Amino acid sequence: LVKACIFDLDGVIVNTARYHYLAWKRLANELGFELLEKDNELLKGVGRMEALEIILKIGNIQIYDPKFKEQLAEKKNMYYLEYINQMTKEEILPGVLKFLQLLIDHNIKIAIGSVSKNTRTILKKVGLESYFDVVVDGYKISKAKPDPEVFLKASLELNVPPNECCVFEDAIVGVIAAKSAGMKCVGVGDPRILKDADKVIQSFENQGLELVMF
Ligand code: BG6
Ligand code: MG
Repeated sequence: LVKACIFDLDGVIVNTARYHYLAWKRLANELGFELLEKDNELLKGVGRMEALEIILKIGNIQIYDPKFKEQLAEKKNMYYLEYINQMTKEEILPGVLKFLQLLIDHNIKIAIGSVSKNTRTILKKVGLESYFDVVVDGYKISKAKPDPEVFLKASLELNVPPNECCVFEDAIVGVIAAKSAGMKCVGVGDPRILKDADKVIQSFENQGLELVMF
């Protein structure tokens, strides 16, 4: 058994990956181009400004003014906040609460490792703000995934060495970050996409402790 589990937030605990997509799509449409659902895969786990760069590339738009870029990213975040402000605990993904409780009952520490600056807001919205031993969010790090910083920071705060931590991730860059942090990694989603993870699950429904045995 591992000693700690570190959960990505967007797309693992809650289905906010969808809201990120809808908010970026709104911005893209205003800029005059379309953002397809399949392009969303590239945006998962990537930091806000890095995601904007990807969006602009897709739309073939060149912007040199950093202030204008900031404004666009802020606008996207306003749209995103409109979606997440409507969230309730019903939006916690199936099986997540039960699985977290199982870990707690077996003295396995739990943490959030997300590059999102909206992490606290979302945890509060869905009633999970005091659930985790440690929360590392976009305010605590300077390098987004695939850099391992977010997970290494969580491991430090948890006081559990990386090789005894298991990360749960839905993004390709997140799996890369976990593996380069020297941690175990369970992918949540499509095994064809998350092929570098040690294991891949479709959802947390009916998952037991054997999931974190390596
Ligand atoms: C990650 C999401 O968790 O957070 C990305 O997967 C997002 O899609 C990133 O860009 C940054 O989030 P935020 O909320 O700070 O804009
Ligand atoms: Mg994610």
